[in-house]
Amino acid sequence: MPTPIKTAQPDYPILDCIAQRYSPYNFEPRPIEHDHLLRCLEAARWAASSFNEQPWRFVLVTRDHTDAWSAALACLMQANQTWAQNAGALIFTLARNTFTRNDKPNRVAIHDIGLAIGNFCAQATALGLHAHQMAGIEIETIRQTYAVSAGFEPVTAIALGYAGDTEPDDKPRSRNALSEWVFADRFGQAHPITS
Ligand SMILES: Cc1cc2nc3c(=O)[nH]c(=O)nc-3n(C[C@H](O)[C@H](O)[C@H](O)COP(=O)(O)O)c2cc1C
Repeated sequence: MPTPIKTAQPDYPILDCIAQRYSPYNFEPRPIEHDHLLRCLEAARWAASSFNEQPWRFVLVTRDHTDAWSAALACLMQANQTWAQNAGALIFTLARNTFTRNDKPNRVAIHDIGLAIGNFCAQATALGLHAHQMAGIEIETIRQTYAVSAGFEPVTAIALGYAGDTEPDDKPRSRNALSEWVFADRFGQAHPITS
C-alpha cells in the first residue's frame, strides 16, 4: 500500500494507522467492500466506554443505494456535500445521552462516541481507507430522515472512502507541540518531559 499523501511527520514514532490518517477532500467515487466496512464497524464496537454503556449508534449509508445516498447527503451542510458526495459511505453518529442502567445523564457519552470513531478511523486507515469527520451536519434533517428515537443526539457524520492521490491543499498537516498542552504542577506550565 503506498504511503498516503498527507501522512503526519510526528516528533516521536507512532503507529502507522495514526500517522497515515488524514481527512481527505478528494475521494475516488467508488464503493467500499462490505468486508472493509464491517471491519471498521467492528473496531468501533470494541472501544471502551463508561460502564460499558456503548452509547454510540451509527446510521450507515453506502453510495450504491442512490435514493438513500441523496437523502444522506441532504443531512450534511452544503459545504460538506460538495466533497462528501464522492465518498463510498456516509456514517451518522448518534449518542444516547443517558445510562441504560439508571436513566441518569451520561456526562461522557460524547467522549465514548469519540473513542469508537477513533477506533473506526484507525482501522479504516489500516485498510487503505480514509475517514473525514464532520460537525457540519443538519441535525433536524438527520432526526427526521432516520426517525431518531428520543434520548439520542446526532453528533457527527463521517465520510469514508478511498482517497485520491492529490488534495486541494498540499500544505503539511500540523499540530500544537506537546509542551503547549501537557502540563505539570499547574495548568499552563509545560511538563518537563516535553522539553
Ligand atoms: C468532530 C470533527 C468535526 C469536523 N467537522 C468538519 C466539517 O464539518 N467539515 C470539514 O471539512 N472538516 C471537518 N473536520 C475535519 C477537521 O477539519 C480535520 O480533522 C482537521 O483539520 C485536522 O486535519 P486531519 O484530520 O487531516 O489531521 C472535522 C473533524 C472532527 C474531528
